[in-house]
Amino acid sequence: MRYAIANWKMNVPPEGIDKYVEACAAAEPAAAELIIAPPFPFIAELRSFAGDRRIGVSAQNCSDQISGAFTGEVAAAMIRRAGAESVIIGHSERRKIYGESNKTIGAKLVRATEVGLLPVFCIGEELEIRESGGTDQLLERQIGEALEIASGAGEMVVAYEPVWAIGTGRVASTEIVAETHARIREILRRSGQPEAPIVYGGSVTPENARELARQPEVAGFLVGGASLSSAKMLQIRDALAV
Ligand code: PGA
Repeated sequence: MRYAIANWKMNVPPEGIDKYVEACAAAEPAAAELIIAPPFPFIAELRSFAGDRRIGVSAQNCSDQISGAFTGEVAAAMIRRAGAESVIIGHSERRKIYGESNKTIGAKLVRATEVGLLPVFCIGEELEIRESGGTDQLLERQIGEALEIASGAGEMVVAYEPVWAIGTGRVASTEIVAETHARIREILRRSGQPEAPIVYGGSVTPENARELARQPEVAGFLVGGASLSSAKMLQIRDALAV
């Protein structure tokens, strides 16, 4: 299975949610599954617009707790009940801005899978780490520490998102993507998730998607900026049909 995941972050597409979903629903079926990750309050709305029209709905985060006195948090079970089937976990913005650790992310993976949400588990290095040759070690830690906690977790998708490529217009080269995805596959084999599809994220556009989609071990894309246009998102999804 290949995935085209639209991460709207804290935005709503300028064309409006209904027009966006209509455009996606009207598009020809494709080789890749389209999943839209809106801010929390739009999950139920998106699910009802999307109906059974082959559009997946995802949250962008969930709590590491089941329920209780955690003001401002949203539990995985609540997200499931609102109609989502998946949840993005450990996005670099969550790690960097909100200080999420690998352990917290591991707990979130457990929370998601225990209620039947497919986690999209994000990993990726900062520029200084890449330049100093520490990428493999960092990815090893991000995966190892989270999956140690989530060792019993079921199916998941892994998203490789180099932080220096997110929202910068600086997409990773096809060489870096191919090499890093191969390395991630090795780590996943040793970490109890040998089959998890690996998607790439970081400045994916309709212009670069086709070439990236041809790289081995690229099972799809996690898209930020370009996902705010249904036309661009559909072109990116269709690039996965190679
Ligand atoms: P971008 O964001 O496509 O705008 O680089 C990707 C992401 O943060 O998931």
